[in-house]
Amino acid sequence: MERMPTPFLALTRDVAPSMVDCELTHLARTPIDVARARIQHAGYERLLAALGCTVRRVDSAPSYPDSVFIEDTAVVFDEIAILTRPGAASRRGEVPAVEAALAGLRPIARISDPATLDGGDVFVVGRRVFVGRTGRTNAEGIAQLEELLAPYGYLVEGVTVTGCLHLKSAATALDEATVLCNPAWVDPAAFAPLRTIAVHPDEPMGANILRIGTGLLYDEAYPRTRSRLEDHGYAMQLVDASELAKAEGAVTCCSLILRTLA
Ligand code: GLY
Repeated sequence: MERMPTPFLALTRDVAPSMVDCELTHLARTPIDVARARIQHAGYERLLAALGCTVRRVDSAPSYPDSVFIEDTAVVFDEIAILTRPGAASRRGEVPAVEAALAGLRPIARISDPATLDGGDVFVVGRRVFVGRTGRTNAEGIAQLEELLAPYGYLVEGVTVTGCLHLKSAATALDEATVLCNPAWVDPAAFAPLRTIAVHPDEPMGANILRIGTGLLYDEAYPRTRSRLEDHGYAMQLVDASELAKAEGAVTCCSLILRTLA
C-alpha cells in the first residue's frame, strides 16, 4: 500500500563529534556532551515527525562543528530554495551537501560573495521576509535575498538586532499574526502591525520557537515564557535542547522545514 505523504519534509543533520569546537559569539565556551546532544537531537527529530514531517538526514559532516545547525545553510520557500553564504567562514563548507539534498525539491538560487547571510537571520510571515542585520548577515546579503525573492512577491525587510547571534534568537513567528520576541534585542515595532508577545525577562533566549504548520516545538528551558504563551492559547511540544544551546543553537536551527508540494 502506498504511504500518504506528510505535509512537511524536515532536513536535519547529525551532531558532529567536533561540535565542541563550534563557533561562539555571545556565550562562554562550556563543555558539551556530544553523546547527550545526540540523544536530544534524536528526541527533536521524533517531535518533528509527530508534527507532520518526514525527517530526512543530510549526509553527516564530522569536520564541521556547527553542521547540526542546518537552518543556516539555506532559506526555503515554496517557489525557490536559496543557498546561503554563511557569515562564519568555518561554516561555508556545510552548504554543498545541503544543495544536493535540496536538488529536485525546489529550483535553487544562491547568495554569493561579498554577501553573507545565515538562515537563522530569516523568518517569514505571509509574504513578509524579516532579515536580521547581524554579525552573520550583511547588507549585501539582504539586498541579494530581496532581488532573488522579488519575482515571487515577497517583501524583504531588514531588522536591526543587538545582543544575540541571529534574528531568530530574538524573534520568531508563532502564527501568521503573532511574533514571539525579546524586546531587549529587537524592537517589536519592526514587525508591526503583527502582534508581539515578549519573552519573560528572566528568559532572554526564549524567543526561538519552531512553527510547523499550526504546530509549535519549543525548548523546555523557558517555562515562564511557555506559561505566557499558554495564557494566549498556544500549545507546544517540548524538547530538551540544553547541550545544543551551549553551542548557541536553538530549536529552529536544527532543521530546514519544507512544505511538501503536490
Ligand atoms: N554555533 C552556532 C553558530 O555560531 O553558527
